[in-house]
Amino acid sequence: MWPGFKIHRGICPTIHFGRTVAFRSISAQERQAGPVAQRIERPPPKGKVAGSSPAGVASPEVEAKMTRDADVQTFLDEATLALRRVTGPGAGVAAEVVRRWAQVGTPNLGGERLPVCDWVAPALAACPTALAGSFAALQGRLTWGRRKSADPANAAFWNGHANAMILGPGGLEDRSDIWVGVSLLAPNTLYPDHNHPPAEVYLPLSPGEWWNAGMDWTDPGLGGFIYNPPGILHAMRAGDKPLLALWFLPI
Ligand SMILES: [Fe+2]
Repeated sequence: MWPGFKIHRGICPTIHFGRTVAFRSISAQERQAGPVAQRIERPPPKGKVAGSSPAGVASPEVEAKMTRDADVQTFLDEATLALRRVTGPGAGVAAEVVRRWAQVGTPNLGGERLPVCDWVAPALAACPTALAGSFAALQGRLTWGRRKSADPANAAFWNGHANAMILGPGGLEDRSDIWVGVSLLAPNTLYPDHNHPPAEVYLPLSPGEWWNAGMDWTDPGLGGFIYNPPGILHAMRAGDKPLLALWFLPI
């Protein structure tokens, strides 16, 4: 900015030549301090700035991109593209979580891991998608833990699985309106039957099989999805490769 050129807060400091500039009388004190000019304020034309309101206030989507952790935003951008491919009754779940994460949650720190997390890197190495790449940038910052109901007596499951929240309670964004997280299974591990009231969409980042009370065991493949209706009993299992999958639930 030019020395002494006074611009209202909130207005882009670019100088627009040819625009009307109104000068007011300058006090003796200001004369000593240098020249003072005051631009006539005009509201920005409607629709001129994508995502901004006519008053120049950023929409929630634009504000989120400006304030959210960059790696989280990149992951959510890739997840949005992947969730747009969900069809049938799961499409509503996919659209709802995307709509809700337009608002930024409370940033949170994580960084706990379990020995089974050694399987994350091999799983990601076999998944050459942009979504997997964006998740790879986050996975080391997550708080990985076991399912609350896991029993140490069941050593295969106790040592063979981990979950982590990305957006949700204890996630990189602490919030209660959505759960966006990840599950990891070591090879030949079964994640037992469970259910929960919210509907759920899984996006696999690896081979693996999913079952629910209305569907036989199915591997949707990379780029596919699984939809679990509200309250339905469901499970998943890894074959000879680790299973890595993202899940999305509006709460
Ligand atoms: Fe589930």
